[in-house]
Amino acid sequence: MKFGVLGTGMVGKTLADKLISLGHEVAMGSRSAANPAAMQWAAHAGARAHAGTFADAARFGEILINATAGEASLTALQAAGADNLDGKILIDVANPIDIAAGIPPIRLSVCNTDSLAEQVQRAFPHARVVKTLNTMNCRIMVEPSLVEGHHTVFVSGNDNQAKAAVAGLLRSFGWPPEDVMDLGGLESARGTEMFLVLWSYLWGAIGNKPFNILVVTN
Ligand SMILES: NC(=O)c1ccc[n+]([C@@H]2O[C@H](COP(=O)([O-])OP(=O)(O)OC[C@H]3O[C@@H](n4cnc5c(N)ncnc54)[C@H](OP(=O)(O)O)[C@@H]3O)[C@@H](O)[C@H]2O)c1
Repeated sequence: MKFGVLGTGMVGKTLADKLISLGHEVAMGSRSAANPAAMQWAAHAGARAHAGTFADAARFGEILINATAGEASLTALQAAGADNLDGKILIDVANPIDIAAGIPPIRLSVCNTDSLAEQVQRAFPHARVVKTLNTMNCRIMVEPSLVEGHHTVFVSGNDNQAKAAVAGLLRSFGWPPEDVMDLGGLESARGTEMFLVLWSYLWGAIGNKPFNILVVTN
């Protein structure tokens, strides 16, 4: 399958590497077609790896991943072009960190009554936005076995078929179906984005060891 990964940071590269390792073809997108990180990634990731602008990657991908800085995601997606998003699954892993506020503690640029995922869906009504994987470090996104035993990945979105397709992709990443929790409509992304604040305190308390949360029910 062809994926467009928008984002040249640690998350974009980690997801792009995983997709390549699973046999997919990936175009990594950036503000610049000559972004050094993207070009270096494509040069080392093999013949199925490509680099280009956000628009190039979005045009290329049958499924798209938003792995851009949360505060810049709408700008990056505008550059990707609404036409290139139309009808496609857009997996949103970004978190709307208010960078200017400094960290720690993390503050969010949108929360409570709205979320980045909903902003993206409103801006691109024909994209099929699915929020997932944003509640953990990117190494765990693609290798859940880094954390022992069962632990939870959330999925939010308004399009059930898109969520089912994303759940399938998560399975291919190593997530057992019973660990994939569908939280319902995209407004539930408010909760997973706001989880980042707790995540940052957990990270402070736990340190550099891989961790994730597990939802336990009776
Ligand atoms: N680090 C993790 O483990 C983790 C876990 C969960 C979620 N996340 C979220 O995943 C996303 C990616 O994180 P990251 O650390 O890999 O990268 P990042 O540094 O947050 O974002 C890098 C990407 O954002 C783009 N960008 C930055 N400013 C921009 C602007 N003004 N206009 C357009 N695009 C802009 C960059 O474009 P260029 O390529 O042109 O430089 C680059 O592609 C973030 O939203 C983060 O909160 C991270």
